[in-house]
Amino acid sequence: MSDFAELKLEGKTYQLPIVVGSENEKAIDIRKLRAETNYVTLDSGYGNTGACKSEITFIDGEKGILRYRGYPIEQLAEKSTFVETAYLLMNSKLPNQVELNDFREMLTRHSLIHEDMLHFYDGYPSTAHPMAILSSMVCSLSSYYPEWLDPHDNAQVAQLMPRVLSKIRTIAAYSYKKSIGQPVIYPKNSLDYCANFLYMMFAVPSEPYEVDEEMVKTLNMLLILHADHEQNCSTSTVRMVGSSDANLFASIAAGILALWGPKHGGANQEVMEMLEEINRNGGDVKKAIAMAKDKNSGFRLMGFGHRVYKNYDPRAKVIKKACDQILAKMNRKDPLLEIAKRLEEAALSDPYFVDRKLYPNVDFYSGVIYRAMGIPTPMFTVMFALGRLPGWLAQWMEMHRDGEGRIDRPRQIYTGESERIYVPMNQRT
Ligand code: SDX
Repeated sequence: MSDFAELKLEGKTYQLPIVVGSENEKAIDIRKLRAETNYVTLDSGYGNTGACKSEITFIDGEKGILRYRGYPIEQLAEKSTFVETAYLLMNSKLPNQVELNDFREMLTRHSLIHEDMLHFYDGYPSTAHPMAILSSMVCSLSSYYPEWLDPHDNAQVAQLMPRVLSKIRTIAAYSYKKSIGQPVIYPKNSLDYCANFLYMMFAVPSEPYEVDEEMVKTLNMLLILHADHEQNCSTSTVRMVGSSDANLFASIAAGILALWGPKHGGANQEVMEMLEEINRNGGDVKKAIAMAKDKNSGFRLMGFGHRVYKNYDPRAKVIKKACDQILAKMNRKDPLLEIAKRLEEAALSDPYFVDRKLYPNVDFYSGVIYRAMGIPTPMFTVMFALGRLPGWLAQWMEMHRDGEGRIDRPRQIYTGESERIYVPMNQRT
């Protein structure tokens, strides 16, 4: 295979270097294209554009493969914990016991937020969406670390990572408590990451609360499956904001807001609302499928389709299987799970979906488990953000390490008016 691609433009031939990744993905390096040809490329939605090289996560969309630092997510979901997977993503290796204990200790020691931040919650209406609260609280955290905002001070960044990972969990649980008018529950140092979150979410001051071990295991699995996904919309946002040398808090707060969108992480809330709507209307999945195929309906089958996966999202496979296991252990049946399964069956036998390679994605079944755990629908995307945080942190660090220090600044092709002269008011129509 040649090391170059040849481009013929206006009678000239240019050689553009070929880049080949460790899993044999190929790219044409166009970094010198404009300087040499005065042309740029155009790729709305960046479906054909690699923004960076990365060593963190590998996805094969055609085969439905997802690996974090080379480890298949199926193995991590079964054998690892969220804290261990977060360490792997951020440090390129599975931790030994000392490293894991030290990391856990950092997360335990830095789980509280400044007491003054509790007053921030009083300003929000009880109906405020927890993603709005999460993003503004994470951004406001920067006010409490004014001396730690230099993205190039590696020692500071290393100290900040576990603090952000731990405090965002506290902020999320506090926003839930505030939304239901209950007192916030402070973290308990004797509990590990996921158990502590469940404790802060569901304990009340008036009686002891025993965290359910099955729920802890399930939450670990869910957060692991959401932990990173290469250059998705919110991760690209974190990288882009970080490329301006904005501090870590600002970059993560921006990522949270990008994730909130219903085309992205907000889809898990939309899926649940869609399933509830179908259930209210008698469970007629045929009508939903017909609407999803009708471009004029404005309805999409939420939790279906993906820019990269043109096969079953491997995360959805694990989550779907877990739905049955968890509900069986809880001795519960959820009509919404049955509706989701019937929707999947109908879609995957319909040419509209098959031809477009539309399969269930990570958001299609996750809400069924969150609901079974007692987590309210508006908190579903917050759960996605909690899971995705180590990925954002790892990608942000990699961007600063490898990014040649340049700000992300895409070009455009202008299609507006040519130059024209200013028109005084009395001559305007
Ligand atoms: C996440 O990028 C990531 O990695 C994201 C993520 C991560 O971990 O970070 O995996 C998490 O965001 C998962 C996706 C969650 N979003 C949803 O479930 C929302 C519903 N899905 C769609 O809106 C859509 O599939 C996207 C946004 C996920 C992908 O959009 P694309 O790649 O831009 O695809 P498209 O809109 O161009 O669709 C291609 C065709 C179109 O039809 P035609 O024009 O060819 O006739 O497929 C159709 C679309 O109308 N289509 C759907 C559909 N998704 C695509 N039709 C009905 N229902 C759907 N869900």
